[in-house]
Amino acid sequence: MTADPASLESLDITDVALYCERGYPWEAWDRLRREAPVYRYERPGFEPFWAITKHADVLAISSRSSIFVNSRRLRLATIAEDERMSSNLRRQAEKLGWDTEEPLDLVFMDDPRHRKLRLLSAQFFTPAALRKLERDLEQMADGFALGLREQLASDTAAGGQCDFVRAFAEKLPLAIIGRMLGLPADDWMQLKVLTNVMIGVPEPTYLQPGEPQHRAQARAGSEMREYMRDVIRQRRAAAVDGDDLASVLVHARVDGEPLTEQQLVGYLALILGAGNETTRNAISGGVQALLEHPEQRDVLCARPELVVPASVEVLRWTSPVVLFARTAVRDFELRGVTIRAGEDVGMFYPSANRDEEVFEAPYRFDVAREPNRHLAFGGYGAHFCLGANLARWELRAALRALIPVLPEMELAGRETRVPFLHVPAIQHLPVRAAA
Ligand code: HEM
Repeated sequence: MTADPASLESLDITDVALYCERGYPWEAWDRLRREAPVYRYERPGFEPFWAITKHADVLAISSRSSIFVNSRRLRLATIAEDERMSSNLRRQAEKLGWDTEEPLDLVFMDDPRHRKLRLLSAQFFTPAALRKLERDLEQMADGFALGLREQLASDTAAGGQCDFVRAFAEKLPLAIIGRMLGLPADDWMQLKVLTNVMIGVPEPTYLQPGEPQHRAQARAGSEMREYMRDVIRQRRAAAVDGDDLASVLVHARVDGEPLTEQQLVGYLALILGAGNETTRNAISGGVQALLEHPEQRDVLCARPELVVPASVEVLRWTSPVVLFARTAVRDFELRGVTIRAGEDVGMFYPSANRDEEVFEAPYRFDVAREPNRHLAFGGYGAHFCLGANLARWELRAALRALIPVLPEMELAGRETRVPFLHVPAIQHLPVRAAA
């Protein structure tokens, strides 16, 4: 089909307020896949980029990390927002005497440096390492499901509803990452609040009277840095090396040198943030999908052995990460369009996960779907999700534990979302005991 450029210009796939109001822009992505899969997205207030919406193209770009690099532009934000974020980071770095040119964390780096840093923690996310956690994961998930059941009953009896995110979804990811990093359980909730505020969630318990959100965001960033600096100091002072991820990183060497405090803070905050928001969102979105498709919930409850394909389908269906950007360092031809060196691309993973050329009936939520070559964890390139195995195991454990609770639960309203374009995670999901 030929594209009508004028009507494509009215499409908006970057306004996070729209994601919060109406959910993901599925119709806009459908049109782009059909009419302009490599689409020059130029909107006021935004640096232009090529919007990539097809499954094959996300794979083509992600797998060419020497042509499409991470280190120039990784996020898509308005020009004003971009400037605010980089000047915040620069100010913080100057204040601490850090290197203002150092990337925030390994995601903003390219190989070979990216690879060396990534390898330092890879051992924590292998299937073998996770197998050791499996029993604990299942026990924790069962305990949290029990708590959810009790809360559902008491909240509903009191005439109210309960927030599934608070009552269940956030608990498992937080506990696992907190433990993996070796952080005290009493700190986990505060760290979750800090990561939330850092990505723009208006947490009423955190905001000071009259404080604008962007100030709170900067304050949370600075508190997170101070917390991590403390963790690093403690680990450096410890006579015995611990086996938690924070200790391993603090004592690690790259090319014979230990990581700087700045690199360590970035690394620890990355693991904490990446491990929490995304998996929590997949669990909440998965339960929302199961409650919205009761026939699929019934299939899963009748055949719990489907928990593996069901959790994969939840990843495809919810696609918690909306996008990452890359910058071309050489000209590249894609579907007859030349992406010039220096130009940016934005890869939209949820759109790739509804690509009708890859998925049969992509808008059907199907807990038994197979094959299911979703790209929720990215496109199999150098930056493919480091925590993919952990996320898969967590999701499986969560769904398995929820099977007895699902038939007793119903949605009690629409979700609210975090105003963060990259991961517009479900912030609240109202549920109640089924009538
Ligand atoms: C459902 C849950 C999750 C989803 C949907 C998800 C998705 C993603 C995506 C799309 C990327 C970028 C891939 C690319 O650029 O090609 C990514 C990278 C990453 N993820 Fe995840 N993620 C999840 C859970 C986790 C967990 C539990 C961790 C644990 C620490 C984690 C850690 C990371 C890290 C460190 C990176 C950067 C890797 C790199 O640049 O080399 N993620 N994730």
